[in-house]
Amino acid sequence: MSARHDPAHLVLGIETSCDDTSVALLEDARRLRSHLIAAQDVHVLYGGVVPELASRAHLELLPALVERAFAEAGVRPADVTAIAVTHAPGLVGSLVVGVAFAKAYAAALGIPVIGVNHIEAHLHSASLEHGECEHPSVALIVSGGHTELVEVRGLGEYHWLGATLDDAAGEAFDKVAKRLGLGFPGGPAIDRLATEGRADAFAFPRPMLDRPGCDFSFSGLKTAVMVALKRHGDPPYDAALVADLAASFQAAVVDTLVAKCLRAIDQVGARALSLGGGVACNRALRARLAQVCAARGVALRIPSPRLCADNAGMIALVGAWRLRRGEVAPPELDAVASLEASGLALG
Ligand code: KG4
Ligand code: ZN
Repeated sequence: MSARHDPAHLVLGIETSCDDTSVALLEDARRLRSHLIAAQDVHVLYGGVVPELASRAHLELLPALVERAFAEAGVRPADVTAIAVTHAPGLVGSLVVGVAFAKAYAAALGIPVIGVNHIEAHLHSASLEHGECEHPSVALIVSGGHTELVEVRGLGEYHWLGATLDDAAGEAFDKVAKRLGLGFPGGPAIDRLATEGRADAFAFPRPMLDRPGCDFSFSGLKTAVMVALKRHGDPPYDAALVADLAASFQAAVVDTLVAKCLRAIDQVGARALSLGGGVACNRALRARLAQVCAARGVALRIPSPRLCADNAGMIALVGAWRLRRGEVAPPELDAVASLEASGLALG
């Protein structure tokens, strides 16, 4: 590593919580020297993530990915100060692979491990591109497994405002897409197809908007789409019908997410709204949030699509911040599957 770079600030990030294997080298908690994300194609065959296959794929992919990250960054393992690894929440077998790898690699190098909470990393992922966040702020995490609305006042200062009572937003996209015959993952397909359909063709419900608070529910909306589809008989379905269903479903999800974000912003007096998770790639959601946040003078912080989805860059970022505070993991750091048991403040 050249003298220009302070070796005290190079964090190797490792993310294996679900079906993406990702490795990042982050310098000075700011600059991604390399950032690799390997999607595991094997799950496409099954129309969803198969946990055991995910664990095995992480095991196969991780060593080569780490080697490539060093080669691309032009640095050596000996230049790394600490390893940040996702230890919760997620698929436990997948997490175990990442944690075990990180511990072994760190032991060999004689450097500390920092256990990073995946949801906490999503809360801050926008900072990689948008810089420091003004507080108080609100963060919306929308992925295949989570729909969380959180007040953020700084690292470790979180207050949960809402979450889904049933399906996650991305899960609803995926299940509806599957029924419409659009494959997996369904979110990107619905996003594309929605531009060809009419968003007002079907009056789908906007769940939970009639109730106070910031919780979500997407299961009823998903069922409403299935019922509408059933009325049109069996597949193959008319392409225009599928596009109308996709557009109307997406509009209902976007309306709901945007309304709850505004509610949260008002409740907290937020100066910024940060997004994270795969559904934050959705173009209709991004466009609507851009409008409403501009109208209210709230800074909108949406990562580029690569940083919305699961990635090791955000893990390295939170790891670097925690390292600055001297918060390294104890040797018994373990994988934890659920968010509730993960120790992230749910106050
Ligand atoms: O954060 P992520 O990559 O993985 C986890 O679930 O942790 O999110 C994946 C989810 C999937 O449900 C996928 O369908 C959804 O994000 N997604 C989208 C879009 N791109 C990905 N949903 C709506 N519109 C998109 N453009
Ligand atoms: Zn995620």
